[in-house]
Amino acid sequence: MKVLVTGGAGYIGSHVVRQLREAGHDVLVYDNLSTGHRWALLGAPLVVGDLADGDALDALFAAHAFDAVLHFAAHIVVPESVADPLKYYANNTRNTLSLLERVQRFGVGCFVFSSTAAVYGSPDQALVDESVPLLPINPYGASKMMSERMLSDLGLAGGPRYVTLRYFNVAGADPEGRLGQASPDATHLIKMACQAALGKRPSLQVFGTHYATPDGTCVRDYIHVEDLARAHIDALNYLARGGQSQILNCGYGRGYSVREVAAAVQKASGVNFPIIDAPPRAGDPAALVADSSRLRELLGWTPQYDDLARIVADAWRWESRTNDAVTAG
Ligand code: UFG
Repeated sequence: MKVLVTGGAGYIGSHVVRQLREAGHDVLVYDNLSTGHRWALLGAPLVVGDLADGDALDALFAAHAFDAVLHFAAHIVVPESVADPLKYYANNTRNTLSLLERVQRFGVGCFVFSSTAAVYGSPDQALVDESVPLLPINPYGASKMMSERMLSDLGLAGGPRYVTLRYFNVAGADPEGRLGQASPDATHLIKMACQAALGKRPSLQVFGTHYATPDGTCVRDYIHVEDLARAHIDALNYLARGGQSQILNCGYGRGYSVREVAAAVQKASGVNFPIIDAPPRAGDPAALVADSSRLRELLGWTPQYDDLARIVADAWRWESRTNDAVTAG
């Protein structure tokens, strides 16, 4: 298929681009390189542009007959969204609207959308399935929820068939060490812990220690980026087979606390970096764990890296050895 990938130079997008090309798809990446990197494309063709640039989008869609669009480009940092909400509604919601206008006008038949578990907010259930009401508690989740709604309304109005993937906590790196999380301002737990192990920060702060969870720290469902990328390939194959629109959770169905993750990074790195209790972070739900049975049943998704030690080992290899060398080039 001829596939447009927005945000394909970013962390998750670059892993998907690599797998798409390995699967034989004809890929074009559209990315403004604000947080993504040209090297992360591993040679895939790139148009540098911003989704806010309507003329550039028109030219892009006029020049290529895309069969499918995979839409990754977005801001993704929860605390930043709390501090600067309009940045998130502009880039995540308004720019998705702009992209969908072109999808509709140029008759693109398939769309895969990067959504997030943050659309659920702070649910009561131990395991969150896709029927749980959407009650986001931060602007990031709300910005994605609105984009989901636009896409589903467009689908009902004769627009593209789509798969919306609600990512839980994506982590790890390419098992062969070519790609990884390389955003300079990333705030995610495993990256922070690796940086503490490397001495790039003095300690790991634990944001909130009195949540209603087994050890008082937040619980998340960490999914290896390579397995998450595979879900996109499966989604595209599903749509190519004529599958109907779906909204699917992406996680393993098992949660780990902040303290468990910190201990796993200490073990992988062999460094007992200081772990400091700190106040809760704005916008954080206590626990988010996926019921991903629909993803497994409908798409035949079969994860290969469902193991916290493996996720942390791949992240650690990337952070400790590869990242500086690759990103310097
Ligand atoms: N945390 C710390 N110390 C840190 C960094 C994080 O204690 O230095 C804690 C956070 O407070 C949170 C947990 O680790 O409890 C995970 O935080 P991350 O920043 O790694 O991830 P989030 O859960 O905030 O958000 C991520 C993605 C979102 C997605 C969400 C869904 O960034 O896009 O997972 O669960 F919506």
